[in-house]
Amino acid sequence: MFKGIRIGAALLAAAMLILLAGCGASNQGATKPTEKKIVLGFSQIGAESEWRTANTESIKAAAKEAGIELKFSDAQQKQENQLKAIRSFIQQKVDVIAFSPVVETGWDAVLQEAKAAGIPVILTDRAIKMSNGNPEDYYVTFMGSDFVEEGRRAANWLVDFMKQDKADVNIVELQGTVGSAPAIDRKNGFEEVMKNHPNYKIIKSQTGDFTRAKGKEVMESFLKSAKADGQKIDVLFAHNDDMAIGAIQAIEEAGLKPGKDIIIVSIDGVKGAFEAMIAGKLNATIECSPLLGGQLMEAVKDLTAGKQLAKRILTKEGVFPADVAAKELPSRKY
Ligand code: AHR
Repeated sequence: MFKGIRIGAALLAAAMLILLAGCGASNQGATKPTEKKIVLGFSQIGAESEWRTANTESIKAAAKEAGIELKFSDAQQKQENQLKAIRSFIQQKVDVIAFSPVVETGWDAVLQEAKAAGIPVILTDRAIKMSNGNPEDYYVTFMGSDFVEEGRRAANWLVDFMKQDKADVNIVELQGTVGSAPAIDRKNGFEEVMKNHPNYKIIKSQTGDFTRAKGKEVMESFLKSAKADGQKIDVLFAHNDDMAIGAIQAIEEAGLKPGKDIIIVSIDGVKGAFEAMIAGKLNATIECSPLLGGQLMEAVKDLTAGKQLAKRILTKEGVFPADVAAKELPSRKY
């Protein structure tokens, strides 16, 4: 029995020697330490729109591709959940925190905590405001669209399309989430242009929280109250495509033709909007790209390599009227 053990041990020793010799031949005996993965904590707003789903997919795919460990948290459109997620990322000592803030305000305390913990923060998609101090002192970069410009583009497209300089144009507006940067900025951009066209009047404006269901519900109430007031709705400006798509259903159910009886312009440029344009039910969409994943991972890598980032990284975007929809749809990525 002991003889058997001695032979076994000798064989094991020989195998180890062969293994070590093999290692020596390939990398001169140096064992390379496995590189530590960068850990990114990302707090997403939710899954309220086609845009948001594409944004989430873009971030998850880009993290995988970049070899970055992603701790992803979905806040279901609640700020309290985003605050919890960010605090848990701080506790877990992630390398970088990124988030899309559901609303602009209420981030002071949590960002101070991240700063005190020495964890850099990246803002994606939406901006913030601080009640105390300069927000730029609390994030390293903010990447995303210019929402004010998107509102201006929607208004300029409309004025150009309507060619209506004298007669009144009655507009109803479906706003995004109350207190969110895109709702505030798109409204401001749109109104800025409309100041120069006083015959364009926003007769009703209410939030549809960026969802199809709410967009439909609010449009139904717009149609009802306009009827009761004896007003004609000429135009719908929706802060995103999902609300416009919900509103299209409400308009059809009211026996009207969306895209003809009511001209519709919305923002995002999701595939659903292109399909609605091809069906003649939506007149234009203003692009707002959710494909921020690649840029985000690049920024995370640069940051951890000690590089300086630009404070603002802007997304390039276009305007798509219905007559280009069929040509553009096959190449749309979201
Ligand atoms: O912040 C971007 C906006 O959020 C998109 O326009 C909208 O669809 C989304 O929910």
